[in-house]
Amino acid sequence: MAKLRWGMIGGGEGSQIGPAHRLGAGLDGHFEFTAGALDHRPDAGRDYGKRLGLAEDRAYGDWREMLAGEKGRDDRIDLVTVATPNATHFEITKAFLEAGFHVLCEKPMTMTVEEGEEIVRLTKSTGRICAVNYGYTGYSLVRHMRAMVARGDLGRIRLVKAEFAHGHHADAADADNPRVRWRYDPAQAGVSAQFADCGIHALHMASFVIGQEVDRMSADTVSCIESRVLEDDAMLNLRFDGGTVGRLWTSSIALGNQHGLSIQVFGEKGGLRWAQEQPNQLYYMPLGQRLQVIERGEANLSPEADRTSRVTIGHAEGMPLAFANIYADLAEAIRAEKDGRAMDPAANLYPRAEDGLRSMAAVFAVAQSGKAQGAWVDARPPMFRT
Ligand code: NAI
Repeated sequence: MAKLRWGMIGGGEGSQIGPAHRLGAGLDGHFEFTAGALDHRPDAGRDYGKRLGLAEDRAYGDWREMLAGEKGRDDRIDLVTVATPNATHFEITKAFLEAGFHVLCEKPMTMTVEEGEEIVRLTKSTGRICAVNYGYTGYSLVRHMRAMVARGDLGRIRLVKAEFAHGHHADAADADNPRVRWRYDPAQAGVSAQFADCGIHALHMASFVIGQEVDRMSADTVSCIESRVLEDDAMLNLRFDGGTVGRLWTSSIALGNQHGLSIQVFGEKGGLRWAQEQPNQLYYMPLGQRLQVIERGEANLSPEADRTSRVTIGHAEGMPLAFANIYADLAEAIRAEKDGRAMDPAANLYPRAEDGLRSMAAVFAVAQSGKAQGAWVDARPPMFRT
């Protein structure tokens, strides 16, 4: 099977998320790293691209040069990943979709709800894919949780509780550190800091697993470090469109927590619990029975879990492999389109522009509710209010 051609914007040398994308895209042999505009400094981007093995003429200095260069080629890239800082996502994603490329955009997809709606409309008018990298939904046991809920193992889902609470911005003396300061500055970060950065992962994870979208929310937002304008901690109450109640905590001052993403699902017939830092174990409590530990890679899991598991049971699979599962979904979607066939339903789980838009509506709902002392607000994008 011929490899698909993959390009990347952002993710330059020393960036946080660039290496995980390169590992994820290359891991299963679906994609060949073919083009890139990797850095905001053109020379540094070109140089790093060449060191990573890009051909001289496809190690671009900036994304506009890359768009112009790739657009005219017969062997143009099949997919471009946008892994630049948040405020640039909309412009770059829009330009590549309009030119007919499939895009995987980092979260948050846009900075406003209006921009999010524009991207959703563009995916429809162009027929191109815009995926959003809620990469933690690529974990095999997250996919299995979703399958268990969908096939009714837990009965009606009463409550979902999601957390993304880390402790990496807990030092008040760090407030002037340039790597931290912009995150809490409305001019650069927008209307929300911690929820927009991490909380949207937890909210998307909850929606993904229970197969419902959030309707309404009430948010208590605080700046525990008082010099911060935007929130570094938020507690949300949620109501989903299928009737499930949601609780979500996100924080950046939770000292002692490392990554801090976890989810619990409680149904009428059973409960599930999973944490990103122990991704190979899923705790399942069927009503009236003993607690069970489901291991990634064990026999008789769902097709969705089997498809996203590579190494034998007992060996660790981690975050870049979860990202690789998003890339594997996208490879299947792109190949199915090229071949004119239906895609494998077990692969049809990658997060979409619609999910990126819903997150953006949630970000603005959190800001609105937080300012109104936790008043309940509509969390849906206008486009999806019927
Ligand atoms: P970073 O600041 O560590 O790296 C950003 C990279 O983009 C740098 O190499 C920089 O030179 C490059 N860059 C900046 N502007 C550019 C431009 N106009 N053209 C080309 N390259 C440009 O940022 P980090 O932490 O890697 O985050 C990047 C994005 O990924 C953010 O949107 C962030 O929210 C997201 N992210 C997502 C995660 C996930 O789990 N899905 C985890 C961490 C970050």
